[in-house]
Amino acid sequence: EAADEAQGELYDFLVVSNRLPVDRVEEASGSGWRRSPGGLVTALAPVMEKSDGAWVGWHGAPDEVLEPFEHEGITILPVPLTAQEVENYYEGFSNATLWPLYHDVIAPPEFHRAWWDSYQRVNQRFADAAAERAAEGATVWVQDYQLQLVPAMLRRLRPDLKIGFFNHIPFPPQEIFAQLPWRRQVLEGLLGADLLGFQRPNDAANFARAARRYARAAGKGSRLVVTDPAHDGEWSPRERTVRAEAFPISIDTARISELAERPEIIERARQIRHDLGDPTTIMLGVDRLDYTKGIRHRLKAFEELLTDGRARVGDVTLIQVASPSRERVEQYRILREEIEGTVGRINGTFDTMQHTAVRYLHHSYPVEEMVALYLAADVMLVTALRDGMNLVAKEYVAARRDGTGALVLSEFAGAADQLKQALLVNPHDIAGLKDAITTAISLPRGVAARRMKAMRRQIVVHNVEEWSASFLARLKEVCP
Ligand code: G6P
Repeated sequence: EAADEAQGELYDFLVVSNRLPVDRVEEASGSGWRRSPGGLVTALAPVMEKSDGAWVGWHGAPDEVLEPFEHEGITILPVPLTAQEVENYYEGFSNATLWPLYHDVIAPPEFHRAWWDSYQRVNQRFADAAAERAAEGATVWVQDYQLQLVPAMLRRLRPDLKIGFFNHIPFPPQEIFAQLPWRRQVLEGLLGADLLGFQRPNDAANFARAARRYARAAGKGSRLVVTDPAHDGEWSPRERTVRAEAFPISIDTARISELAERPEIIERARQIRHDLGDPTTIMLGVDRLDYTKGIRHRLKAFEELLTDGRARVGDVTLIQVASPSRERVEQYRILREEIEGTVGRINGTFDTMQHTAVRYLHHSYPVEEMVALYLAADVMLVTALRDGMNLVAKEYVAARRDGTGALVLSEFAGAADQLKQALLVNPHDIAGLKDAITTAISLPRGVAARRMKAMRRQIVVHNVEEWSASFLARLKEVCP
């Protein structure tokens, strides 16, 4: 039936990403699928439906080959990974080489040839899967750092395609990128696209500089001129233009805003405050448990405020949601130990029978609970040391319909470009961070409301639908 039909079909629009937009859920009747919470799916689902689209990606489990299937109107084309590939391509090259390298080497990147070999092989598998299912002249949109070789691999197989790529994480300055032993191959992989999207203009500029220096791209500004080699005698070398431009991603603002209006979610927010003993101020951090997020810096600042007596348990509580992430990668294990040690020390020192300093939750939650947390929080702390965008900052703003609440936001998160009225901080500057937190706690209502209103205006216009539409429109425009 549905699966059989999907067998040989060709699609006009393909999205290719490491993770599929569905998560497995175990039910009494066996296992099923649920749409993942991320904004990307929400943004692309309507495009998929309109244009006969399909999604190519990995379903998250090792050593399992799945047939194509339909889920809520989206055709899913699963790409399998072996346990060894999960280790070498995903945990290794993607998350212990590229991730730290692209995030300002906050943790030392590891370079291993076996990981690189696996990265190439898996990228080729994704490219083959997309090439096999793309209709003549189709649009293929490749996502993120796990798949940087796919654009050129696809072009070699299918020069008729329109190829877009979006990098969700930062692109590092040339001097740092230069450490990568396979820098030329990665740049050439990306240059297979017609349009390369980045979060900030700076990321696009970093890429363009690296491409001119290490991959011999010509051209000026965001316009890169490359020469493709002849391939199998089928086509002769030719010059091609590749654009590298900024398209800051956003959220489904209307959905978050709508959830924030629901009586049961408002009631849940009240309940959360009550359960914490109704402190005057609730501060909130919500992150994947990742060393890029600056969770340690945030805890340090809070601990010092408590020590200094500038904040007092009972008046202030910090809720820190740290969702489990990449738990088999060493740096993530180390970080978890450190954070849990710090939280234990802070609470051991400052908790009272009635109140806690830090309510730490190593869980992930459905979007309804997240919105309730946003509503419960007077102060949102986003202190990333480096972050491509940070959608939590935008979600907090989307949830604060009544204009109350203060956002402390790292200038090293892409979101700082759009949320200019936040209390911007350099998270490395602990004294400055403490001052910003203190200011946020006692921000006069009028000032808070003016700032929140300006930020809301920004994300209402620039939502995720506008993001994908503008990328795809630009891709159409630049394709010959
Ligand atoms: C970041 C990356 C995504 C990735 C996500 C979760 O946002 O840009 O590509 O999917 O983290 O990480 P994971 O390793 O669990 O896919």
